[in-house]
Amino acid sequence: MSSPAKSPAAKSVRSVLQKYLMLPKLIRLSRSAPKDRPVAWDTYWAGIRGKGAGSEILWDPGTDNEFLGYRDVLLRYLDRELPVIDVGCGHGRFTRALAGVFTEAVGVDVSGHAVAHADAETQAGRGAAKVRYQALDMTGTGAAQALSVQGDANVFIRGVLHVLDAADQAAMVDNLRLLAGRRGTVFLAETNFQGNPVQYVSHLGATTRSIPAPLERAIRGLPMPGHFGPDERSRAFPPEAWELLADGEVAIETNPTTGVDGQSRVPGYFAVLRPRG
Ligand SMILES: C[S@@+](CC[C@H](N)C(=O)[O-])C[C@H]1O[C@@H](n2cnc3c(N)ncnc32)[C@H](O)[C@@H]1O
Repeated sequence: MSSPAKSPAAKSVRSVLQKYLMLPKLIRLSRSAPKDRPVAWDTYWAGIRGKGAGSEILWDPGTDNEFLGYRDVLLRYLDRELPVIDVGCGHGRFTRALAGVFTEAVGVDVSGHAVAHADAETQAGRGAAKVRYQALDMTGTGAAQALSVQGDANVFIRGVLHVLDAADQAAMVDNLRLLAGRRGTVFLAETNFQGNPVQYVSHLGATTRSIPAPLERAIRGLPMPGHFGPDERSRAFPPEAWELLADGEVAIETNPTTGVDGQSRVPGYFAVLRPRG
């Protein structure tokens, strides 16, 4: 008879508990993140040198795969004759892909350094001529009016709402409503990982021995992310103000840092919404 200490159940309990030995290190790392969110994002982007797989950017796998998965939904629900605003565009990976679908694509980000990266990438020939960028905090009062876009626009937003608190989500959604006007539609895709921070970083390949470099950079420099699913969507986009046209599960693809299948895909949520009347 095997001793209880060596049984599969005991081993699995031990491996679950072992993960939590990371906790002090995670707390130490995350303490160094600037408390001011716009400052944190701009400092993060100021330190970025590379792009795509193998780079420092946690949420950039360097492929169009995820965007291609969204393309049919975008074509079905969003008016291609309207411009599209990529809110929280980062280095403009999705903005450039959107320019292949819409008449014009405008990337906007709170970080001036992110916008500088996006501009540089576009000028390096990897973008289309119909792309431009602007640095702006999209939670600010008047941000929708400050964006130089004529008339109604579509909105694309990926991986941004889950890093904002509820008050900033509400402020950003007020601006999205103004941008969309009568004819525009919002497409969002966000991570919706159900678990605590230790489980989240373990999913992305962190162990008690090591933390993948792009993940460690995000932990030590950025606000702690939350998750964004149907509950958060219906709070941020109240059904009396927004019509839900479609939603469902997606896989948010991240930088493949460990080579372990599935570790670079985070369970996510997408939704397509239009302001009511
Ligand atoms: C996780 S990154 C996602 C970047 C990009 N959407 C992508 O998927 O590659 C979140 C981005 O949102 C931007 N961001 C955060 N808060 C913002 C705000 N209040 N207004 C505009 N952009 C913001 C950050 O600077 C960062 O580039």
